[in-house]
Amino acid sequence: MRLVRFSEATHVGRHAAESIAKTIGERPRAVLGLPTGATPEIFYAELGKLHDSGLDFSRLTIFMLDEYVGMEKDNPLTFASYMDRHFYSKVNVSRQQRHSLNALTTNPQAECKRYERELTEAGGFDLLVLGIGSNGHIAFNEPGPFLTLETHVEKLSEETIKANDRGTVEKDNSSLSVPAAKTFPTHAMTIGIEAIFSARTVLLLATGATKAEVIAKMVDGHITTQLPASLLQIHHDCLVLVDEAAAAGVRSGP
Ligand code: PGA
Repeated sequence: MRLVRFSEATHVGRHAAESIAKTIGERPRAVLGLPTGATPEIFYAELGKLHDSGLDFSRLTIFMLDEYVGMEKDNPLTFASYMDRHFYSKVNVSRQQRHSLNALTTNPQAECKRYERELTEAGGFDLLVLGIGSNGHIAFNEPGPFLTLETHVEKLSEETIKANDRGTVEKDNSSLSVPAAKTFPTHAMTIGIEAIFSARTVLLLATGATKAEVIAKMVDGHITTQLPASLLQIHHDCLVLVDEAAAAGVRSGP
């Protein structure tokens, strides 16, 4: 794992987008794993700009990392809807290139198995972009006494529900109307630790002071399933892209 610091959040997103462009240049048929959340919004905006200036996305294969179990299709908080809004509407990625987990499946376990098969058939990720939860989750692999290898259903922690119930809604986008769901989903489907670890390259993006504590623990702390991102310390090619605010608590490294 290597930490790369940038002076501003914008530069984190730009650098990550440039890494995608480099991957496409070297491997136009690359398999990408792409995240949702507030952090990667700049990254997707930069990818849109790169597409406007000629970057071709048409031969990639793209997998989303996770999805809420049971969230209604018209809810803009679904990750499928996030990807449409921030990425697919801005670039040339056809439906055939996209892989996602169906929030409305009646059998989440079977849906996870299907996804795992698709991931395996695609040969795993060439480049996997991750965010990090303030509790150290990666995709939706939450802290706990053990982690799960394959795509699976995960119970969301209180902290994650709190962060995502409000956090994923773009505050500046007043056109978003979030249906008043009685309760936020308690479970999500997520790719597992094996797909993350077998990714050829991992980029983890973190920006802002709210991520400073978890980034410090991930980089300087013990490797533990209680902080799933800490396992990335032993990934053979993982870059952690952070702005100054998120890097504030890190003692080691450059
Ligand atoms: P965030 O989410 O970018 O909205 O902070 C990150 C995550 O939970 O993985």
